[in-house]
Amino acid sequence: MNDKAKKVIDICSLFLVSQVSTLMSEMVNKPDAKILSSPNWKRIVNFAVSNDICDFDRSFNPRNIRPVPKLITIAKLIQDFFEDRIVSIDNNYIAEIIDKNCDQPFELIDDQISIKKDWQFVFDEHSEHGIFQWLKNFFRVSIKFYTPKNLKHAIINGGPIWKQVFGENVRELFDLKKFDSDLFLSVMRAMHQSNSKESETLVEILKEYACKNILDVGGATGAFSRAFSKANPSSEVSVYEKNDTLTLVKSIARELSLQEPENFKYISGDFFDSSIQDGLFGIPSEARYDLIILGWILHDWSDEECVKILGKVVFHLKKEGVVLLLEKPLSPEGLGPATTLDLTMLFQTGGKERTLSEYLEIGNACGLKFKSYHQTNSRRDLIFLENYEKS
Ligand SMILES: C[S@@+](CC[C@H](N)C(=O)[O-])C[C@H]1O[C@@H](n2cnc3c(N)ncnc32)[C@H](O)[C@@H]1O
Repeated sequence: MNDKAKKVIDICSLFLVSQVSTLMSEMVNKPDAKILSSPNWKRIVNFAVSNDICDFDRSFNPRNIRPVPKLITIAKLIQDFFEDRIVSIDNNYIAEIIDKNCDQPFELIDDQISIKKDWQFVFDEHSEHGIFQWLKNFFRVSIKFYTPKNLKHAIINGGPIWKQVFGENVRELFDLKKFDSDLFLSVMRAMHQSNSKESETLVEILKEYACKNILDVGGATGAFSRAFSKANPSSEVSVYEKNDTLTLVKSIARELSLQEPENFKYISGDFFDSSIQDGLFGIPSEARYDLIILGWILHDWSDEECVKILGKVVFHLKKEGVVLLLEKPLSPEGLGPATTLDLTMLFQTGGKERTLSEYLEIGNACGLKFKSYHQTNSRRDLIFLENYEKS
C-alpha cells in the first residue's frame, strides 16, 4: 500500500468537491439557491459534509466557511510533499480507493480523474441565472489539473502546469485560446460573471471612495472597474493590463456585449517592464492616483515579484492615496477559505495565498503601512494600505 498515493487521491478528490461546495455556499442566498434542494445537489452537499470538506448544515445553510479538519490536513499534506519532494503514485492503488468508495463522484480513467456519469449533473444542471453555467466552465479547465500525474508535477516542480496539461503553446490562462478558443471564452465568461457578482458587494463597501481617480492594476475584463465606474459616474477608472491580454479582453468584452462606461478606460502596459526606472511602463510618469486596486494580483506571484510589482505601483500613488488589495488572507496559522485556492495558485501561477501579516510585510517593503482591513463574506476581503509618510 502506498501511503503517498492515498494522500494524492485524497487531495484531488477533496479539493474538487471543496471547490464545488465553496461555490455552492456562496449561492445559498442567491436566486439559484432553490436548485440546491434538488436531490442531486443534496448528494453533493452530503458528500461534502460527511467528508468534513465544507461546513454546511443539512438545511443548506452554510455556517461560516471556516477551515474544517480535512482542509487543515490537505494544507499539511501539501507542506509534507514540498519538504521531501518525492511523490510516488500507484495508479492501481488509486483506482482501488476510488472503487471502494462508490459514492465518490470521481473515477480514474487512464490516469485522468473524471466525474462519474451519474455525477454529471454538476456540469449539466443549469438555471436561468447561469451560476451553474460558470461553475461548469471553471470545472472544464480545473478538472484537468487535478490528476495524480499533474498534481505530482506541480508539487515536485513547485510551479504552474499549463504546458503539461495543454501543451507547449500554453504557458498561462490567456494562452488557452491557442488550445481551444471555445474553452477559453467559456472560462473568461465564467470569470467575468463570477467577478461581476462579487463586485456589486465590493463596490458597495467602497462607497466612500467615490469621485476619485482610480487605477485597477491587472483588472482583466474590468468586472470590478465597470461596476465601480457605473456606481460612481464622477470617478475616472483605468484598467492597467498587458497588451496581449488587452487584445483578448477587448474581443471578449465585445462578445459578452459588455458596456463601456464613459469614465472607464484601458491602459496597456506590463508591471514587470523595467524599461523605465520608476513607475509603471505605459502610464505617464506624472500620473498619480487616489486609489490603486490590486485584485487577486499578489497571490499570483512570489514575494520578490510582489515587491517588484507593488514598488512600481506605489510610485503612482498620491501622498494621501490608498492601495487596496483584494485578497482572502489565510488565518495566522495559514488556514482559511483560501486554503484550497493556495493549491490552485500552485497549479496555475506558481504564486501562493498569504496571511494578513505576510501581505503587510510586502506592503512595508514598498513604503506602505496598514490602514484597515475589511472582512467580507465573499471570496475576497479588502486590505487597505497607505503611505508611511503622507507629507
Ligand atoms: C488573477 S487575474 C486578476 C483579475 C482581476 N484583477 C480580478 O480581480 O479578478 C490577474 C490579472 O493580471 C494580469 N497580469 C498578469 N501579468 C501582468 C503584467 N505583467 N502586467 C499587467 N497585468 C498583468 C493578467 O492579465 C490578469 O488579468
